[in-house]
Amino acid sequence: MGDKKHIDEITGVATTGHVWDGDLQELDKPLPKWWLQVFYVTIVWSVVLWLLYPAWPLVQSYTVGWLGTTARVSVTRQVAAAREAQRPMTAAIAATPLAEIGTRPELLQFAVTGGAALFGDNCSGCHGRGAQGFKGYPNLNDDDWLWGGAVDDIHRTIVHGIRNEHPETRLSAMPRYGLDGLMQPAEIADSAHYVLSLAGKPHDAAAAGRGAATFAAQCAACHGEAGKGNVELGAPNLTDAIWLYGGDLASVTESIVTGRGGVMPAFGERLKAEEIKMLAVYVHALGGGR
Ligand code: HEC
Ligand code: HEC
Repeated sequence: MGDKKHIDEITGVATTGHVWDGDLQELDKPLPKWWLQVFYVTIVWSVVLWLLYPAWPLVQSYTVGWLGTTARVSVTRQVAAAREAQRPMTAAIAATPLAEIGTRPELLQFAVTGGAALFGDNCSGCHGRGAQGFKGYPNLNDDDWLWGGAVDDIHRTIVHGIRNEHPETRLSAMPRYGLDGLMQPAEIADSAHYVLSLAGKPHDAAAAGRGAATFAAQCAACHGEAGKGNVELGAPNLTDAIWLYGGDLASVTESIVTGRGGVMPAFGERLKAEEIKMLAVYVHALGGGR
């Protein structure tokens, strides 16, 4: 490379001296002014931020910055302020009887929003984010209730839970007809077909006919003569299309062989009274309620 600059003939601009493929050359154009100015501004801006905010790590800590604040401090402050702002509403929920919350729009709205957040923290692990449920964990969006769908029923379910150690928990369990030898395999098969017939599903009519008597003798006490269920005992309606454990022949047979008894913890001692009220109102609003 000589010290004399080579000038490109077409543009009249000096080249950098880099050459590719024998004759492809690079023009030595300056950076655009606007670009350089923005670049310098960002450098100055970063220095200002270093001075104002926490920036440089030190051995045991970091430079605090002239403002002496961090994003975390301001979030903590905002959370505290939001709690403070909610206090009158939470107090109103605590003071209002459960049945009345639904008749006061501003309380209802607050309870549903707060209940949704509490549900995410406490219930969604079992019932699902959208309360849609899973096998053995009921869907809380439909208007089909094991233990009753009035807001009081739902409240009671949450406070005491189901089939746990709480003295007032909701109790009852379906017997293990197969495992405990309470019924012969043939009787179990017949009653399974009878259950399918109740639900209006394809079934063996002769088997269902034999199963009717077994059902009346063994099952009707809990599930009702017509199989419509009983919310006092948490016994599901067997005539609808909603199944907690599955409505095909294999699942129904398994229900009869092994018995069923889902467990839900009691929340009475884990959550505050007003939180449980909000949850009950929220779940009631989800399910269409009764
Ligand atoms: C450890 C799992 C678990 C957690 C956590 C849980 N549940 Fe449940 N929940 C169940 C099961 C299982 C059932 C069904 C019990 C049965 O088969 O009778 C149930 C039933 C219910 C029912 C009765 C549904 C009906 O059809 O009558 C309601 C209401 C309910 N849960 C609400 C909640 C709320 C609200 C929370 C959070 C505060 C919650 N659950 C947390 C497992 C759980
Ligand atoms: C002592 C009361 C009781 C008796 C007797 C009883 N059941 Fe049940 N059954 C229940 C309860 C309670 C459940 C729900 C358990 C749960 O929620 O985990 C249930 C659940 C079921 C289910 C599952 C429903 C679903 O949605 O998946 C079927 C099927 C069923 N029973 C059939 C029968 C048949 C058939 C008989 C008679 C042979 C019978 N039950 C006798 C209480 C009873």
